[in-house]
Amino acid sequence: MRTLCIDIGGTGIKGNVLDITGTALAERVRIETPRPATPTEVIATAVEVGRRLGAFDRISCGFPGVVEHGVVRTAPNLDGEWNGYPLADELEKRLGKPCRAANDADLHGLAAIEGHGVEMVLTLGTGMGSGLYIDGRCVWNLELGHHNYEGDETYEDRVSDAVRKKIGNKKWRRRVGAIVSRLAPIFNYRRLYLGGGNAARLIPADLPANVAIVDNKLGITGGLKLWAEDRTIVP
Ligand code: BGC
Repeated sequence: MRTLCIDIGGTGIKGNVLDITGTALAERVRIETPRPATPTEVIATAVEVGRRLGAFDRISCGFPGVVEHGVVRTAPNLDGEWNGYPLADELEKRLGKPCRAANDADLHGLAAIEGHGVEMVLTLGTGMGSGLYIDGRCVWNLELGHHNYEGDETYEDRVSDAVRKKIGNKKWRRRVGAIVSRLAPIFNYRRLYLGGGNAARLIPADLPANVAIVDNKLGITGGLKLWAEDRTIVP
């Protein structure tokens, strides 16, 4: 059973084919996210990622916005009209295999968590993604990134990649630290995982003991969980 896992991001669209154990069966493919990132262009690129990877039996897709039952609701860092876009159906039709789709951060976390107690993930990339898990089950589509942090600024406004480039890594790290300190007493998670393309810029020694930096590649492997875990309810 080979699963094509696609991770649609604001900067790149990545994919690989994994076996049932999560072992990659091919070299990862990455194509820049087309701009403007309209549904037509983005889906054409995701399909191209799949075609370059060759044979697979089913598809998982992580998407940078709210996804309900395979249908997109929001896409804050993409362009054009995404609300109502039938993401899973479209990829299924174009690539000829069954497809399931979910929020990118939710999938990232599914690959990182241990599966007991309350666990959380924050993804630090183009935007800020978030995921919440209880005994291994995901509370789908938590959108902390768009919660107000201070004044008109959201969490995402504080730590997005565009802002990091403006304020520099040192200040950006302090901002991430402040977000972690704010979330800890609210969610009382057992473990928090920091992923996404910019997590590698953090310094592990600066973080509390129950916070771990995880590999951005989990964005792809998490896709497997949409099919593999009996307990997982497809969002
Ligand atoms: C979106 C989230 C997404 C995150 C990371 C945010 O802007 O609202 O749904 O997980 O970016 O891609």
